[in-house]
This record gives sequence, C-alpha cells and structure tokens, in this order.
Amino acid sequence: MKLKKMLFTMLAASMLMFTACGDSSSKADSSKADSSKAESSSESSKAESSAADSSKADSKTDSGSAGKDTIVVYFSATGTTKGVAEKIAEAADADIYEIVPQEKYSDADLDWHDEKSRTTIEMNDPDVRPKIEGDLPDLSGYKRVYIGYPIWWGDAPRIMSTFVESVKLDGKTVIPFCTSGGSGIGSSGKNLEKLSDGGEWLGGERLDGGISEDKLKEWIDGLE
Ligand SMILES: Cc1cc2nc3c(=O)[nH]c(=O)nc-3n(C[C@H](O)[C@H](O)[C@H](O)COP(=O)(O)O)c2cc1C
Repeated sequence: MKLKKMLFTMLAASMLMFTACGDSSSKADSSKADSSKAESSSESSKAESSAADSSKADSKTDSGSAGKDTIVVYFSATGTTKGVAEKIAEAADADIYEIVPQEKYSDADLDWHDEKSRTTIEMNDPDVRPKIEGDLPDLSGYKRVYIGYPIWWGDAPRIMSTFVESVKLDGKTVIPFCTSGGSGIGSSGKNLEKLSDGGEWLGGERLDGGISEDKLKEWIDGLE
C-alpha cells in the first residue's frame, strides 16, 4: 500500500489542478450521494452484491431496447464518467446501464485525503466487493460491452470488481474506459479482465470528461 500511497500523493497535485480545470467533476457533484459515513472495510465490503447473489444471472436490463448489439456499462460517483458513458452510448448506438452502489458514496466517502474514508479503505483491500443496487443487466444479447469507471488510486473502484465477477462476459468484446484527474487507465482494465469469466478485452482508454463528439467517434471507429 505504501507504493500506492506514494503514487497517489504524486497524483494528488495533478488531480487538484485537473479538478480546478473542471474535467474531474467536482466534489459538489457528489452531493446527491447520501451521507452515510465511511465504515469499516468489513462492513462495506466483503458482502457480495445482492444483485451478484444471483451470480452470473442474466436478469433484466434497465436499458431494455431490443436489437442493439452494444451496451455501455458504467459506474460514476460524481458524474464525469456518466457524461462520457452517455456520449459513447449515443455515438455507438448502444444501450446503457449504470452500476449504482447499494450504499451511495458521500463526499466524506470520496475524500482521498482521509486515510479512513470509505474509498481509501476499499481501495486498500482488493477483496472488497461493494454491493450493487438492483438487477444486473442481461448481457446475453450483446456482442460488445463498454465498461467505464473513474480511476481511484490508480485502479478501478472495487464495485467494478463486483460487476465483472457477477456477469457473463465470455464471448463478448469488452472495452474498458475511464475518466480521471490525470492518471491513465493503467492496468485497471487488465485487473478487471483477470476477475472476469473471459471475453476479448481491448486495451481500453482514459477519456477526457469534456471529450468532443469527433474525438469520441475517432476512438470508437479505431476500435473496429
Ligand atoms: C477516492 C478517489 C481516488 C482517486 N484517485 C485518482 C487517481 O489515482 N488518479 C487520478 O488521476 N484521479 C483520481 N481520482 C479522480 C477521479 O478519477 C476523477 O475525478 C474522475 O473523473 C471522477 O469520475 P466520476 O465523476 O465519474 O466519479 C480519484 C477520485 C477519488 C474520489
């Protein structure tokens, strides 16, 4: 964890600058989150997602439109990844599914300066599996799955581990993407791939919160 801490400290300055520039959606955006206090790792964590309890289940998708072969799945604590995910869904003519934590992340939970904040505790423990609210999407009809998340401490938030362990990705093309305060996608996609049941995972990309439609299209077309 010391290494992560050092890494994170180095990143902190760029993150702050980036936040000031407005790419990383500011903490104000997370005010919609509930105020539940950061809790011990054992509480917020080990439990499997209730959605994930129906492990690998192909339950109903929230997106629901028939006929599309692509879906964008994302988690976003403060709105930046959500914005990018929505743009991808539009550009790629895809369905969309938001991973909603059963316990929303409050501002205090997201405080990376606090060694005892929920996110710090979660990211310190690779075995943490925050629960997902509601039903998991039925991925059976999709060929391509974009998976988006914010970078937390150089990695994907643990709720993404909950997700990839709970759905069937084998046989699909999986495209990780992230937003961040400056860090690249690093090995976060690879780490998720290792937890999944398979699929053809592409390298993935960090996308700017304010990415233009043209740039997004260029990236999507380049994946072909
Ligand atoms: C707990 C926490 C850890 C973070 N760690 C990093 C990091 O290691 N590198 C980085 O560039 N940004 C980091 N960020 C900034 C987020 O990745 C960035 O603001 C992201 O765009 C937020 O996406 P969202 O609005 O979809 O939640 C961190 C943010 C939080 C809350």
